[in-house]
Amino acid sequence: MTFEKILVTGAGGQIGSELVPFLSDVFGKDRVIPSDIRLSTADSRFVKLDVTDRAAVDLVVEKHKVDTVFHLAAILSASGEKNPELAYRVNISGLYNVFESALKNKVGLVMTPSSIGVFGPDTPKENVPIETITRPVTMYGITKLMAEYLGNYYHSRFGLNARGLRFPGLISYKTPPGGGTTDYSVEMIIEAVKGKNYACFLKEDSKLPMMYMPDALDSLLKLAEAEDSRLKHRTDFNITSFSVTPKQLETEIKRYYPSFEVTYHPDFRQAIADSWPGSLDASAAVQEWDFHPNFSLQATTMDMISNLRGKQISQTA
Ligand code: NAD
Ligand code: SER
Repeated sequence: MTFEKILVTGAGGQIGSELVPFLSDVFGKDRVIPSDIRLSTADSRFVKLDVTDRAAVDLVVEKHKVDTVFHLAAILSASGEKNPELAYRVNISGLYNVFESALKNKVGLVMTPSSIGVFGPDTPKENVPIETITRPVTMYGITKLMAEYLGNYYHSRFGLNARGLRFPGLISYKTPPGGGTTDYSVEMIIEAVKGKNYACFLKEDSKLPMMYMPDALDSLLKLAEAEDSRLKHRTDFNITSFSVTPKQLETEIKRYYPSFEVTYHPDFRQAIADSWPGSLDASAAVQEWDFHPNFSLQATTMDMISNLRGKQISQTA
């Protein structure tokens, strides 16, 4: 059984804060149990849950008769390089606890986002397929790659319905991103709307794949609902909407804010970005569960600015 009681871990983060209302709209509010280590929301359904605490995970899964988990609790790439031990504990031990609890409680589906972080400097740069050289050089990437393998292991060895996809950088305006390398894209748009200039922590030509949040939410639901018999992959689908450099995003923003200025001051996150591909081959997601993103760079930028301004806008140039 799935989607009767849906636990979302890490629900207070960039994705979770939008996935919870999205799933609530689709399946009903009473079927969604948001949880996070931080209780930073007014949502009375929220459960405080540290995924590194195995007993606590069991308790929540049992108590709420959870049949589906969207496991979002994680430490992202830049935060993970600042605290690799924490990234290992949350991203690996936390996932292990969720898988073990899911097995014990016969949970029907565990969705775990992976990331472009699984790739490394030896990976080809363009149109990268799912199966390629990975060899990540960040703790985040190493934990994400292991998470993909763990998901496949729990499926083949124990029959657990573990699924996941490699998100590119996600752009959204409702909740700030939580310490990633692609966060510059969100920050740049927000600063422009505030009428400020922006000091970018990546070089102007660092091309990375990106996606707007509505497409990311849609992808999670589509993969969660995909027919099992169509899936040749399980935990490592590449997905992407568009690829962009900081300079190209700056240019796009300037169509709305012509005097907006960006200066480029690469920091430690540049090495992380340099290790990731510029574009992905996402054809398996199309073939196996019909994924088609809707938002281009232009549509994403316009929608972001429009929502941040709180009203519809028109271009000035
Ligand atoms: P986020 O950092 O915004 O949110 C993560 C949440 O996890 C936070 O609310 C945090 O409080 C919570 N958390 C941290 N430690 C915890 C613990 N021990 N127990 C319970 N909760 C804990 O991250 P996000 O962007 O929402 O990412 C969610 C998932 O998507 C992660 O697996 C991430 O790797 C993946 N992903 C995100 C992006 C992106 O651009 N946002 C891209 C690729 C993959
Ligand atoms: N946006 C994420 C990060 O930069 C990619 O997984 O960490």
